[in-house]
Amino acid sequence: MKKTINKKNSYETAMIYHINTLTTKNTYLELGFNDFPEPQKEFEHYILKEYDLKIDENKINKNPLSKIIKDRHSAFKMNNGYLTFEEISQLLYFSYGYLDEEKSRRPVPSGGARYPVYFYIAIFNVESIEKGIYYYNATENKLQLIFEGDFRTELLKNILEPNSVKECSAIIMNVCSIRDTCSKYGNMGYKLMCVDLGHVSQNIYLLSSALNIECRAHMGFFNDYFDNLLNLNTQDESTLLLHVLGKGFDSI
Ligand SMILES: Cc1cc2nc3c(=O)[nH]c(=O)nc-3n(C[C@H](O)[C@H](O)[C@H](O)COP(=O)(O)O)c2cc1C
Repeated sequence: MKKTINKKNSYETAMIYHINTLTTKNTYLELGFNDFPEPQKEFEHYILKEYDLKIDENKINKNPLSKIIKDRHSAFKMNNGYLTFEEISQLLYFSYGYLDEEKSRRPVPSGGARYPVYFYIAIFNVESIEKGIYYYNATENKLQLIFEGDFRTELLKNILEPNSVKECSAIIMNVCSIRDTCSKYGNMGYKLMCVDLGHVSQNIYLLSSALNIECRAHMGFFNDYFDNLLNLNTQDESTLLLHVLGKGFDSI
């Protein structure tokens, strides 16, 4: 039986927000980046007492995670190098695959276990697989080719300020299903979905750091282009974040 969404979990406000915050060539032209206040950095309080945190670098350095966290950064230059298929596989599986046979555990938490994030990946320079656009089917743990060809020039044309990532090797296109989360939680689902995407993004960053892959998240891109390319119905699911991947100059 088809489930209907009742008033309590309808999500008109989330939809108004979603549609009004999509970036297209027109909306980008309207944005002004010249006159804005600096972020406040810290909140101010009336302080009763304060303690310096105790950081023991030696202790924490013994844990490999600390090095991965310290090395994490957004790429500012890539060298047109090749990633291996194994590197891409590790990155996809450990950022969002299913960790158990029953397909109940994943490497990220998710509000209400809705897991509204999906992975498409455009491959340009990856050893052993052809150029094209793939869907990562996490349930089957497979990379599925859906469009053949070299899409790099075209994709970069639809990314705002792509200078630091021009020589990239692949682009992960993270699509979020608004319907997946909002059909359960109503308008609040949009916030949950964005938090989920943040967890996924940090995993991609940390795995890139561990695998010596350069990575830069991009939210500045033309939504309509990417949604059309992937045949998405923007009201139900939409491309919300890109992760551009490549090799850096220390890894030739
Ligand atoms: C949600 C999100 C969106 C971002 N969008 C862009 C973007 O459109 N273009 C870009 O060059 N960098 C983008 N970045 C990267 C940030 O500029 C970068 O994380 C920030 O400058 C801090 O640098 P770091 O990651 O090296 O510590 C984005 C990062 C995040 C988390």
